[in-house]
Amino acid sequence: EKGTYPHYMLKEIDEQPLVMRRIIQTYQNEQGELTIDSEIINALNAADRLYIIAAGTSYHAGLVGKQFIEKMAKIPVEVHISSEFGYNMPLLSEKPLFIFISQSGETADSRAVLVNVKEMGYPALTITNVPGSTLSREADYTLLLHAGPEIAVASTKAYTAQLAVLVILAEVVAKSRNLTIDFDLVKELGIVANAMEVLCDSKELIEQISREFLSVTRNAFFIGRGIDFYVGLEGALKLKEISYIQAEGFAGGELKHGTIALIEDGTPVIALATQESVNMNLRGNVKEVVARGANPCIISMKGLNRDEDSFVIPEVNELLTPLISVIPMQLLSYYAALHRDCDVDKPRNLAKSVTVE
Ligand code: F6R
Repeated sequence: EKGTYPHYMLKEIDEQPLVMRRIIQTYQNEQGELTIDSEIINALNAADRLYIIAAGTSYHAGLVGKQFIEKMAKIPVEVHISSEFGYNMPLLSEKPLFIFISQSGETADSRAVLVNVKEMGYPALTITNVPGSTLSREADYTLLLHAGPEIAVASTKAYTAQLAVLVILAEVVAKSRNLTIDFDLVKELGIVANAMEVLCDSKELIEQISREFLSVTRNAFFIGRGIDFYVGLEGALKLKEISYIQAEGFAGGELKHGTIALIEDGTPVIALATQESVNMNLRGNVKEVVARGANPCIISMKGLNRDEDSFVIPEVNELLTPLISVIPMQLLSYYAALHRDCDVDKPRNLAKSVTVE
């Protein structure tokens, strides 16, 4: 039930610190180490390449998950949109393992790929929020998100839960391969949960920023480099689906290859700056759009922030920034929808689970 909350979406955004702590606890053993069923770890270790298959927000989580797995566990990962994979299948490696990411576990596009994969005899793991869902039953292995029911059509806490489970998976596989991880993931995820709380307490400021940048605009762009680019894609999807503002996410460096032509006087450009190695370049991209009239809303991480930034997120491990930088994106969209009198929890033309191909 949504209790005192005006919308499920806001309630679910606010639940993220709690979900994060629940995931850390659930995936810990008595010694406090993160663990995952050894069958699953063996299956990943037996694979020469992982294929992540997902749609929408879950696809965006997959893009970040690829970074976690490749950087930490050193297994090559490809990420594919379910609806394309069916008929546009890439050349597969010799020993593929498929990972289906789906909040509902019912997405028909993803299921179609799973049926196909099982016919070909390949192993499959489903990461889902719904135990007993179709994708869970039909895959060989399941990892649960433990996010609690997600009612709002716009996915929020499932995304951050997906990222948490993916990074835990990456860490457990890495350890099983004797790879060194130079941080303590349990501790870092605890810091993430605390940072999430700080962000959930910043609603007033984010509402103000949303009003300033998004209450009347026709369109909006999200830019970022590296993992910030993927969070921008998610930010744009959130904004589109509930506020009906035409929004697109771009890699900062790609703007000048075409999209910059769309920048007009006052076009909001939401720029994410959480990665030190690309901070200078990203800020260069912001200058390029500002020179063409854009209205820049820079969201940076503490330590990389500058005076002109609109919002600063707390500092967390650089690899884990998507778990928290997405929260201002979710809240910006929520308030944009509210200010524009949109039905936040039930946006037009959308259903919570998409059970047709
Ligand atoms: C966006 C959203 C959708 C879903 C997509 C996949 O907020 O909710 O893009 O992420 O339909 O759904 P699942 O994860 O249930 O397979």
